[in-house]
Amino acid sequence: MNATTDTPLPLRIEHLIKRFKQGAATIEALSEVSLEVTPGEFVAVMGASGSGKSTLLHVAAGLTAPDEGSVFVDGEDLAAMSDRRLTVFRRRRIGVMFQAFNLIPSLTAEQNIMLPVRTDGRGAESRERLEMLLDRLRLAGRRTHRPDALSGGEQQRVAFARALIADPAIVLADEPTGSLDSVTGQELCRLLQDLCREQHRTIVVVTHEPAVATWADRIVVLADGRVLTDFRSAEFGDAQSLAAHYHDIVQAALPVEASR
Ligand SMILES: Nc1ncnc2c1ncn2[C@@H]1O[C@H](COP(=O)(O)OP(=O)(O)OP(=O)(O)O)[C@@H](O)[C@H]1O
Ligand SMILES: [Mg+2]
Repeated sequence: MNATTDTPLPLRIEHLIKRFKQGAATIEALSEVSLEVTPGEFVAVMGASGSGKSTLLHVAAGLTAPDEGSVFVDGEDLAAMSDRRLTVFRRRRIGVMFQAFNLIPSLTAEQNIMLPVRTDGRGAESRERLEMLLDRLRLAGRRTHRPDALSGGEQQRVAFARALIADPAIVLADEPTGSLDSVTGQELCRLLQDLCREQHRTIVVVTHEPAVATWADRIVVLADGRVLTDFRSAEFGDAQSLAAHYHDIVQAALPVEASR
């Protein structure tokens, strides 16, 4: 809960542990991760490759069950839901955009975007939202294209529109600007910031790019499956000083041999 109101937090993660078996060895991809995201917050998750960023998003989205700990989305404990209820809850309340876009090849861009709301019988009431998203993501001229007739960046934007169409409590995006040119990437960041500031949306993005992280309100840095630090981006005026700070944090956390 918020300290000041009874509104549930869009995302509350408590003491998450996620292990993967690799042959005889077990990797702890997430070790005791706790995180709270407040309504309207835009959070960037950064960290070296293998630090657990994607695993964190998958667990937060209810796609992977944790070994220990809890995930509450919009105040609801994901572990307490039946598979069926979780499927519906995810479709309505959690917007996801992951590294593989998972667009359906036989559907047009517009049909792919509308899929979550059509499945729920809410297609008609989502038309206005669809038009806003097509416009803001510069996809209006691509609505009848199938994924194989879209560029990588266009496919990424279609996947992003699909994540937003159901008006979810939270949007979780893994490298949303990964295959976008810098202008389109910055435009997407501006859209994310507008969605948070004007419409009070809540967004968590994983990114390697300080230029993306500067648009966020807060930056959470993971290292080796743990939250290394959590700071406000407003402490840094531009992407360059944020990048320098991030680099210092990550370097300082490396084992002595690795940082030599
Ligand atoms: N399905 C899996 N089976 C076994 N190990 C896994 C699996 N998924 C992830 N891991 C391991 O868990 C750790 C965290 O992986 P994760 O994908 O979360 O990293 P990441 O921070 O997203 O990295 P990147 O920036 O490269 O995408 C890594 O060591 C990875 O090898
Ligand atoms: Mg990843």
